[in-house]
Amino acid sequence: MKCLSSTVASLLFWANAAIACTGFATRHDIFLPLNGTLAVENQLPLNAAGYAVSNLGRGAYMITDGVYQSFVLVSTAGVVVVDAPPTTGHKLQWAIGNITSTPVRWFVYSHSHADHVGGAYLFANQSNPKVKTVAHANTASQLAERPDPNRPVPQITFKDRYELVAGNQTLELFFPGIGHDLGNIIVYAPKQKVLMMVDQVYAGWVPFESLAASVYVPGWIRGHDQILSYDFDVYLGGHLGGPANRTAVEVQREYVNDVFNNCAAALIKSGTNDPAVGIAALSADVLGNNPNNAWAQFAAYLDTVADLCNNMTSAKWLGRLAGQDIFGYSHAVFYLLVCNRLSAPCWM
Ligand SMILES: *[C@@H]1O[C@H](CO)[C@@H](O)[C@H](O)[C@H]1NC(C)=O
Ligand SMILES: *[C@@H]1O[C@H](CO)[C@@H](O)[C@H](O)[C@H]1NC(C)=O
Ligand SMILES: *[C@@H]1O[C@H](CO)[C@@H](O)[C@H](O)[C@H]1NC(C)=O
Ligand SMILES: *[C@@H]1O[C@H](CO)[C@@H](O)[C@H](O)[C@H]1NC(C)=O
Ligand SMILES: *[C@@H]1O[C@H](CO)[C@@H](O)[C@H](O)[C@H]1NC(C)=O
Ligand SMILES: *[C@@H]1O[C@H](CO)[C@@H](O)[C@H](O)[C@H]1NC(C)=O
Ligand SMILES: [Zn+2]
Repeated sequence: MKCLSSTVASLLFWANAAIACTGFATRHDIFLPLNGTLAVENQLPLNAAGYAVSNLGRGAYMITDGVYQSFVLVSTAGVVVVDAPPTTGHKLQWAIGNITSTPVRWFVYSHSHADHVGGAYLFANQSNPKVKTVAHANTASQLAERPDPNRPVPQITFKDRYELVAGNQTLELFFPGIGHDLGNIIVYAPKQKVLMMVDQVYAGWVPFESLAASVYVPGWIRGHDQILSYDFDVYLGGHLGGPANRTAVEVQREYVNDVFNNCAAALIKSGTNDPAVGIAALSADVLGNNPNNAWAQFAAYLDTVADLCNNMTSAKWLGRLAGQDIFGYSHAVFYLLVCNRLSAPCWM
């Protein structure tokens, strides 16, 4: 566990003696408080049943259990549900039941991951054959290859785009390319100007561990610009509190861009004869203590460059985006592993 000195932490949070830790998190660690971040501002109070509903207008709703989000569109021809996290479970059915008596007729998978769609069976099941399931072709392949009764294989699939017309409502589904997952899609409701792309932007927070655990980081990074090319007012990322907006997408794009620049600068510095991070001095120390141990050399080098990169990122973002103390280091490491190119940003 790497921990910032309490002096650094208390410079940022003068009233707080917490030590900011990065790296391997354990159950008794105390991380920086969330005070003053959008992460707090964006939280919605939950009702007694444990969920909250945001009315986005003209039949569009965001439903959350506080940690996950679903998107619901009420139409004259039935309800469209995008995502059903298993942790939200029946609360999602209650929330919809309290909004409308119209039956659910469509279920859209944002992507394949069970934490977001593991409750699909609550809507799409054999006792309810009228519900049509929709997903990207890659999501369908993933669900067919590793069958899960909770996530039935989608019936309607598409490769590039699909327009879901449901009575008076329209949902435009677009595949921006492989990124966080093989088939993660942009879900856009043009009448309400609501855009959902799950596990892409985390409003008020740094991304989830290791650049959103993306299967293809350049695609995930490109996703920010692809989202911003849409005309939307409300952004739903599938996580953490209430609806967000364009600013949240722009802020995360700036954060990711900073990680790139800082890691590039750290890599360049590691090529100098700097006694702390220069590769020659560092390798001499590691190999002196661990003769011929190449992995020890690689690990110490990677960790040192990532630490330097992350220190630069923290100087700007610690306390601004929640969780920089928690996942910032993982972003630096992952960036160095999958994006280690200096000639151009890795998403180009
Ligand atoms: C941060 O919030 C906690 C409650 O979550 C509170 O106890 C603490 O005093 C706050 N710290 C600052 C610096 O505002
Ligand atoms: C579509 O119809 C539903 C159900 O009557 C209504 O709640 C919603 O506001 C309508 N949406 C639009 C865009 O007209
Ligand atoms: C409305 O929500 C409550 C919990 O808040 C739930 O007990 C009830 O069953 C819901 N009503 C419908 C019709 O789903
Ligand atoms: C099947 O879907 C219907 C309609 O959404 C729902 O009422 C029912 O609870 C679902 N069955 C299961 C086993 O979840
Ligand atoms: C987006 O939301 C943030 C936080 O609520 C707010 O400060 C900002 O002004 C909003 N931006 C736009 C473009 O509405
Ligand atoms: C990063 O910052 C910490 C805390 O200030 C410091 O101990 C560490 O040496 C720094 N790492 C590098 C590589 O500069
Ligand atoms: Zn995911």
